[in-house]
Amino acid sequence: MAEYETIKVERDEDILWITLNRPHRLNAFNDVMVRELSDALDRAEEDPGVRCIVITGEGDRAFSAGADITMFPKLTPDRAVEASRLGQEVFTKIERMSKPVIAAINGYCLGGGLELALACDFRIAAEHAELGNPEIRLGILPGWGGTQRLVRLVGLAKAKEIVMLGDRISAEEALKIGLVNKVVPFEKLREEARALAKRLAEGPPVALKYAKWLLNFGTQAPLDIGQRLEAGVFGVLFTTKDMREGIEAFMSKRKPEFKGE
Ligand code: COA
Repeated sequence: MAEYETIKVERDEDILWITLNRPHRLNAFNDVMVRELSDALDRAEEDPGVRCIVITGEGDRAFSAGADITMFPKLTPDRAVEASRLGQEVFTKIERMSKPVIAAINGYCLGGGLELALACDFRIAAEHAELGNPEIRLGILPGWGGTQRLVRLVGLAKAKEIVMLGDRISAEEALKIGLVNKVVPFEKLREEARALAKRLAEGPPVALKYAKWLLNFGTQAPLDIGQRLEAGVFGVLFTTKDMREGIEAFMSKRKPEFKGE
């Protein structure tokens, strides 16, 4: 397992846990953390033994408080564009991964922290978590995909409240507007994230990969094209052993064992 300075990576059977680990800065992202997360995601994608990834933050205070603000004073406009593009690419990597990714939100989930969570497939939050995009208060705006993904997830009205006012919202409110899938007591967060990860890890990997792809990208095309993509992928799944296994298991009333073949 690779050693990193700003994140922890742990294997738990077929689940990979990535923990953002700069608790003294509320797990804010510096350049090293962006690069290390990118590397850990590449390795997870390539490792056939990993079937689901959970991203969380160290401690009980923060998932991540966003980009490390201490980097900003020395950023030129050109470097700011590069930093924005790099963060966008890394978070987009999560969206493009062939495996499901869960954000286990263990506290403040702000700025880049929320943008990271938005790129994940599922979000489970601890009751005390607070979510938001406070960048406007610094005279800037979310630059790691936030303005684009938030509106797609919660709609324009709520996205404008979150981005243009910069107020933090509670986990309960986030659940109401569909920003998170579930809210649980902090003590149960790991257990709940693991249970969800386990379910996903036991699912049929190829069908899950394409379901994620169709939901993320098929929906960016006009409905007719999206449906054509859906039909093509539906056909591809009929070439898999997992499809036969799923049908056979149903017929013989047993639990399927999907192998990703
Ligand atoms: N970048 C760099 N350092 C950060 C940080 C960030 N995004 N967020 C928190 N920190 C640091 C604080 O400066 C503080 O460091 P210090 O102990 O050396 O003073 C430490 O983390 C703890 O944070 P603190 O502000 O003391 O905790 P709090 O409970 O009073 O407030 C927050 C928590 C999250 C509300 C507050 O830290 C905050 O608003 N952070 C910035 C969030 C933000 O604007 N994110 C978008 C960045 S583009």
